[in-house]
Amino acid sequence: MKRTFIKETPLCVGKKIKISGFVNSVRLHGKIIFFDIRDFSGILQTVIISSNSFYEEAKKIRTEWVLEVVGEVKERPEKMKNNDIETGSVEMEIEEIKILSEAETPPFAIETNGYEISEEVRMKHRYLDIRRERVKKNLSTRHNIMLYCRNFLDERGFLEVETPILTKSTPEGARDFLVPSRLQVGSFYALPQSPQQYKQLLMVGGIERYFQFARCFRDEDFRADRQAEFTQLDIELSFIDKEYIMNLVEEMTIEIVNKFFPEKKIQQTPFPRIPYNEAMEKWGVDRPDIRKNKEDEDELAFAFVVDFPMFEKNKEGKWNAVHHPFTKPDEDDLEKIKNNPEKIKGLQYDLVLNGSEVAGGSIRSNQKEVLEAVFTVLGHKKEEVEKMFGHLLEAFSFGAPPHGGIAFGFERFLSILLNEKNIREVIAFPKTGDARDLVMGAPASDITEKQLNDLHIKRLENEKKKTK
Ligand code: AMO
Repeated sequence: MKRTFIKETPLCVGKKIKISGFVNSVRLHGKIIFFDIRDFSGILQTVIISSNSFYEEAKKIRTEWVLEVVGEVKERPEKMKNNDIETGSVEMEIEEIKILSEAETPPFAIETNGYEISEEVRMKHRYLDIRRERVKKNLSTRHNIMLYCRNFLDERGFLEVETPILTKSTPEGARDFLVPSRLQVGSFYALPQSPQQYKQLLMVGGIERYFQFARCFRDEDFRADRQAEFTQLDIELSFIDKEYIMNLVEEMTIEIVNKFFPEKKIQQTPFPRIPYNEAMEKWGVDRPDIRKNKEDEDELAFAFVVDFPMFEKNKEGKWNAVHHPFTKPDEDDLEKIKNNPEKIKGLQYDLVLNGSEVAGGSIRSNQKEVLEAVFTVLGHKKEEVEKMFGHLLEAFSFGAPPHGGIAFGFERFLSILLNEKNIREVIAFPKTGDARDLVMGAPASDITEKQLNDLHIKRLENEKKKTK
């Protein structure tokens, strides 16, 4: 017999069907046992009566066991109907039960929203945490929105292109994760902080419209809206200006909200464009929360922050790029860029939602000389530039169309829409606050001597002791 998904059971009244799933709850009422059975699509009440030959065996069944059940779907008496669940008008009378897997008692409750459970426990058994309704809903909304973005961009002529994970350092302002190379002894790959340079190289390659759901890796201190490993919806286009990109992003964002969160209200469209200086003067931050009503979860206040300074001084008094060095300065005069960096604006734009930076991008320098002027301000010597970015400058020398792009912090965007306070709630297997994957036990120190030898890596003596 073919398996029926639980959400389809209200259409099966009077029919004998087979369902499979986890036991959500068990209730013993005299000579009847009720099992609520849960599959990915829903929950169904099933009953087994004492005259059934499986009854005695069924008594030992506990929550979270995995069952396959055959029986007839029956309409519930009127006063027993439960309008709160999709299958609340029906139940199944069990005829046959097959136990597919027994289960230990889970270390925490699965029927709650889970916020009350400590991170350590919840993340160690994340696969159980995923069974809860809230996390399942987050993951399925994530999937649906990803699919929607893919189609939205595909319809507009974008190509999804995957770029390497084993690559070279690219400056996004965080620390790199490094991977030692076995074949090139003493050399290291860096995991990408973003596909920034690759997507620009794709523009040199004539792709014109690129996007990617890209994994990014940044070894930085943890916050509720930061993970060491996260996903960007990364976009790049040729022959466009910044208005074009902002409008594209605005259209997509509004469509997502209307389609997936009809209960939410966007405070203002078109999204206001706030100059950086105004944001700093009025709100004291470059990602202002401009909601009129901050109490209401369904209020969404989007804004583009524009006219950022190109450079800012870091703690050591050196110039840094506010976005990244590939951003085009709003100035063609190379001398001015070099001599008056504090006066130069960058063609950068950030999308801010309820006080959080959900996307950031810029128009890029496609002229070698402009890029070089920016690197000079950043204090890079000629040889350094050649070593770090020679490949990009060389690529540009073969003809680089004007281009620009943007990247959404996909989890940041989603978590706000889903009313989640921490982005780990929209990631299947997130890292803990100290960047550990508790399910797998990563990072691991039990690497064999052979593996280390292959990589020409030696543990320091005191470290060796620590890991023993
Ligand atoms: P940026 O560094 O601003 O730009 O990153 C883009 C967006 O990614 C999100 N983000 C993060 N999300 C979760 N965890 C993190 N550690 C994290 N860091 C950043 C933010 C941010 O707005 N290459 C450029 C984009 C471009 O210029 O096109 C870039 O990566 O929401």
